[in-house]
Amino acid sequence: MYNRRKFLKVFFSTLSAGASSLAYAHGIEPHWVDWNSVPMPLQNGSSLLQGRSLIQISDLHIGSLVSATYLKETFLKIQSLDADYIVITGDFISYKPGIEKDLSELLRFFPKGKKQTFAILGNHDYGFFFNDPEVANDLSVLLKEQGITVLRNEHRLVDGIQWIGIDDLWSKRIDLQKSFRNCSPDIPSIILAHNPDTIDHPLWPNHFKGWILSGHTHGGQCRLPLLSPPILPVKNRAYASGKVQINLDQTLYVNRGLGHLTKLRFCARPEVTIFS
Ligand SMILES: [Fe+2]
Repeated sequence: MYNRRKFLKVFFSTLSAGASSLAYAHGIEPHWVDWNSVPMPLQNGSSLLQGRSLIQISDLHIGSLVSATYLKETFLKIQSLDADYIVITGDFISYKPGIEKDLSELLRFFPKGKKQTFAILGNHDYGFFFNDPEVANDLSVLLKEQGITVLRNEHRLVDGIQWIGIDDLWSKRIDLQKSFRNCSPDIPSIILAHNPDTIDHPLWPNHFKGWILSGHTHGGQCRLPLLSPPILPVKNRAYASGKVQINLDQTLYVNRGLGHLTKLRFCARPEVTIFS
């Protein structure tokens, strides 16, 4: 009798802990944004941004899966921080026919940098099977109408920084030669690449100095404390989230994104990264 009572106690405690964890992972963490401050030094110790501020957001997944109210409120908070530059590292949408309506409504509140707002596209921005260039082209037009500079295998030189935007790896739109054409390895660079596996491409230029900003992983979305996430959409598992030193001159930062594909996050809070 004692053993049965003990078993039932453990069983119901485990059940209750599981239900609480699930309620937290579904109801709280997906909208509990981590406002993460990260310094952006170069190898020689100087600051790449030299007193200016840069906010990175990623993986919004606008559509039926992510609350528009949550995204709108987060956009307004980001705008109130008055950053010099804002970059969005892809996966604006989870595509469905007619998404333009959701997108247009939210884009009105989209945060803009005082000096410049740059974006690149992610695999989900290419529609079904990540393979519909028309979806990506229509999205790019909408973004440009909002004053967002969409970099598709191209660069801009602004305030002494090379802003290089690489198109997406999984949708096979990446063109590294075109992206780095007319760029100088001597000028500090901020390289935007949705999928961090881009760095392991055979044509990756290791001699460019600066930071690479990525998204795509969502930090694994669900993980156990101190352990690597069980599910990660990258080949190189070192690129799960946060800062990774690639070589002496290059630092990668993988942002965990704001949205989700399934409304579950555990130990992988949505993130806004504030670089200084
Ligand atoms: Fe994503």
